[in-house]
Amino acid sequence: MDYFNYKQDVLFAEEVSLKDIADEHGTPSYVYSRATLERHAKAYTNSFKAMDGLVCFSVKALSNISILKVLKDCNCGFDIVSGGELHRALLAGADPQKIIFSGVGKSEAEMAAGIEQGILSFNIESESELMRLERVAAEMKKIAPIAIRFNPGVDAGVHEFTKTGRKSDKFGVSIEDTIGLVKHCIESKYLSMVGLTCHIGSQITELEKFEQAAHQSLKMLCEVEALGATLNFIDMGGGLGVTYMDEKTIQPDELIQCYERVFQGRSERLIVEPGRSISANAGVMITKVEYEKEKFLITDAAMNDLLRPALYQAHHDVWQVRKNNLEPKNYNVVGPICETGDFLAKNVALSAGEGDLLAIKTVGAYGFVMSSNYNSRPRAAEILVDKDQFSLIRKREDFSDLTALEEQPND
Ligand SMILES: Cc1ncc(COP(=O)(O)O)c(C=O)c1O
Repeated sequence: MDYFNYKQDVLFAEEVSLKDIADEHGTPSYVYSRATLERHAKAYTNSFKAMDGLVCFSVKALSNISILKVLKDCNCGFDIVSGGELHRALLAGADPQKIIFSGVGKSEAEMAAGIEQGILSFNIESESELMRLERVAAEMKKIAPIAIRFNPGVDAGVHEFTKTGRKSDKFGVSIEDTIGLVKHCIESKYLSMVGLTCHIGSQITELEKFEQAAHQSLKMLCEVEALGATLNFIDMGGGLGVTYMDEKTIQPDELIQCYERVFQGRSERLIVEPGRSISANAGVMITKVEYEKEKFLITDAAMNDLLRPALYQAHHDVWQVRKNNLEPKNYNVVGPICETGDFLAKNVALSAGEGDLLAIKTVGAYGFVMSSNYNSRPRAAEILVDKDQFSLIRKREDFSDLTALEEQPND
């Protein structure tokens, strides 16, 4: 459910016309709806009944500080995967005790920063990472809190690039190796095992997949307990799918109820790390048609602004900002980049031409965060709508931004 609707044939974000935003801030621009973000975050935070819960929004999905502030005010913590995301979460005012550090390649500097800030947990993905963290903590004479991300061997049934829970994936530690790491933590002076975690993939639409992972986690939890470790939390990761086209999705409360059923009687806290299901439907990208050429509408937005169609052949609905009564035609909506893979949508029925505005839907997750300067194109602006107000939350880049960090050795 989102707050992008037509009013008298013009597409609005909450109570603001997207045409007014384009007039003031130009195109391409990402536009986010605060009410949608809040609605989705609360759909999670209000779902915990039997267990104490914490929702850690996955910053990789949408990392603008103003957005993180909105989610922090909904009582969310954050799931981060880099020092840069830690920096952003702290700038947004996050409580470090609500920050989980995930990711397979944490550097020593990132570990030290996390320890220094007193984050809730490092989610450990390998034995070498655990050893490195122990060394860093020992040098700092501090104890690092950890959760082991074990690999439950569940195929999430999603796009090959977004499956993370199979034995062959680069993520997590095998069930067998987890036991060895737990034993090491119990003995360690500088590590404290506080949780157990897994994350099986993204854009998952089958509840059974989450249920299978939860059963594996429960089994693992009991084995860990038998070794003498008492944990504070079980973290089930993110991954809930959204509707891009006609996918039937699971509601956050159904997911949390499923977890609470599996973990019935346990006293650990339940953590989840949703990204896409909170922010995807809260964002659209507005773009202007520059040219109509046969079956192509060539827009001022391109794959550098929204990579998902080129990277995953992902589908995004395209809506006209102003509807009309003209006969629609089937178009491929493409960008100006010199790649045949540069498309935003294929075979969409539109009655639009040069100068018209389009809204690319469901781009609030893995949209702006994956943008680049490919073809020396400045990144788009980001705007946050709150009822009848809108604010620029990231300026459109200009040409000086493109070259600001470049040095000329012979000058
Ligand atoms: C460890 C971890 N947690 C959470 C997420 C968020 O996933 P989603 O956006 O599908 O909810 C990801 C995404 O890849 C992840 O790797």
